[in-house]
Amino acid sequence: MLPQEIILSVLRLQKGYISGNNLSNETGISISAISKWIKILRKCGYNIESKHSRGYRLTGETDLPVPWELARLLDTMFVGKAKIVYLRTTHSTQNLAILLAEKNPDSDGMVIIAEQQKSGRGRENRKWLSPKGGIWLSVILRPRMPASIITLLPFAAALAVCEAIKKTTQLDAKLRWPNDVTISCKKVAGILIDSSIEAERINYAVIGIGVNANVKSSLISAHLEKSIKVTSLSEELGHETSILGLTKEILERLEYYHIQMEHSVPHTIIDKWKKNSDILGQKVALMQRNRTIQGMVADVKHDGSLVVRADNCEDIDVVASDVYVRY
Ligand code: BTN
Repeated sequence: MLPQEIILSVLRLQKGYISGNNLSNETGISISAISKWIKILRKCGYNIESKHSRGYRLTGETDLPVPWELARLLDTMFVGKAKIVYLRTTHSTQNLAILLAEKNPDSDGMVIIAEQQKSGRGRENRKWLSPKGGIWLSVILRPRMPASIITLLPFAAALAVCEAIKKTTQLDAKLRWPNDVTISCKKVAGILIDSSIEAERINYAVIGIGVNANVKSSLISAHLEKSIKVTSLSEELGHETSILGLTKEILERLEYYHIQMEHSVPHTIIDKWKKNSDILGQKVALMQRNRTIQGMVADVKHDGSLVVRADNCEDIDVVASDVYVRY
C-alpha cells in the first residue's frame, strides 16, 4: 500500500478526529510526513478537516480518478493494471501515451489521465479543448490482432464510452459515425486512435478518450465550426456527475470490447454499435475535397464503413479518413 492509502484507511476507520501523533503511530509514518500527505490528499480532492487540539478527520472522499482510487475500483484484467499515470496538467495524454508505448514494451493496459490538457488533440488535427472537469485519458493497448481489424477499434471505444455514460447518468447517449458520442444530437465525447503497425500486426494502439463531463460547453465550442454542437454531461443532467465512477465504467467496457475483438467475430462490435446509434436513415452531407454529396445513411458495414444513398440513388461507401460528414 502507498503511504496515502495507509493514511486514508486509518482516517476511514476513525469515526471522529484522530490526533497527528496517533495517526503517525497507527501508520508508521512520521508526523512531518503525515502533514505533507494531508496537504497532498486535500489537493487530490479529499476533504480532511483539522483542529489544533483534536487532529484530523476525513469528511469527504475524492471524485478524481487518482490512481490508487481507480485501481481499487477497477474490475479489469489488464487495463489500468500495468500502470495508471495521473497528471494535473499535460500537453496531451495522447502524445505522452505514444512516447510511453514506443519506449515500454510492457505498457499493455497503461492508462494516462490528466485533469486538464494544454494542447489536447482531436481527429483530423483539430484542437481539443480540455479544461478541468472533463475526462481526458489515453489507454495503451497491444492487441493480438491482424492490422486489418484496427478500423474497428474506434467503434469499440466509442461503444464503451456510450454504454458507460448511459449506465452512470441514465442519459440517452447515442453513437454518431464514425466515433462520436452525442446526447440530443450534440457531441459529448470523442475518440482518437493512434497506432503503430509492423509486418501486418498491430504493435500498439493508443485510444484517446475525451468526455465533456463537468465542463461548460461554451468553453469548448468557442473554436469549433458552428455546425458542430456540443454539450456536457453536467449541462444535460443539471448537476455534476461522478468522474471517478464514469472513468471506471469506461475502462472496464473498453477492456471488455477489446477482448471481444480478440476472441469473437469482430462484426459483433458493429452490430452493437448500430443498436446504440440512430444514424440509419439520417440525412447527411458528405464533404469531400472538391464536392459535397447529399444523401441518407443506408448502412454501416462490418468493417465500419458508412454506406450513404445519394439523392441520385447511388450507394456510396465511405471510410472515416476520406470524408467529413455533416449531420
Ligand atoms: C475527436 O476529435 O472527437 C477526438 C477527441 C479526443 C480527445 C482526447 S482527450 C484525451 C486524449 N488526448 C488528446 O490529446 N486527445 C485525446
